[in-house]
Amino acid sequence: MNRGKELYKDLSRILITHEEIQHEIQSLADQLNQEYKGKELMCVCILRGAVVFFTDLIRLLDLPLTIDFMAISSYGGTTKSSGEVRMQKDLEQSVMDKHVLVVEDIVDSGLTLAYIMDILSKRGAKSVKLATLLDKPEGRKNDLKVDYACFTIPNEFVVGYGLDYDEKYRNLPDIGILDPKIYM
Ligand code: PRP
Repeated sequence: MNRGKELYKDLSRILITHEEIQHEIQSLADQLNQEYKGKELMCVCILRGAVVFFTDLIRLLDLPLTIDFMAISSYGGTTKSSGEVRMQKDLEQSVMDKHVLVVEDIVDSGLTLAYIMDILSKRGAKSVKLATLLDKPEGRKNDLKVDYACFTIPNEFVVGYGLDYDEKYRNLPDIGILDPKIYM
């Protein structure tokens, strides 16, 4: 497998191509442009994995919007989905009376996003919705509502397009399944 980057040799296969990703982001943007028409939007990027998706999505939105960033870390176990979550970096702006769209790369257990959605609602946002590039429902440990998901994926370890393993692979333009020999 070679799409011009050495990193592709660590994938067992490509799951979603760059072209498919761009197509779905355009569909999501069309939907958001309709649903938020006449409103101002605050787009919140959850660092770091969502950065690539976020920058593609906001450029397709035809709305007056502001952007802000939040970073969350997970604790309590060997896998990131098992632990509690804690804020590492808070927003710079207030969400009071704003329509907030939280933008994520992936929802797995749902623990991170439940924490974020709860905080933002309690701070007095007019509305808080969640847009994720990938939804992995098999991993879910709560009843988190995902408002917008570009792709529903199986329970595989995926990297690329912002998603990492050991902080690598974020720069792959496609999303691929990491070869288990890399992490076993
Ligand atoms: C990923 C992702 C979400 C979270 C989802 O972040 O960006 O924030 O995990 O997992 P959950 O649904 O099981 O809570 P990660 O901790 O990998 O950090 P990163 O974005 O910096 O890669």
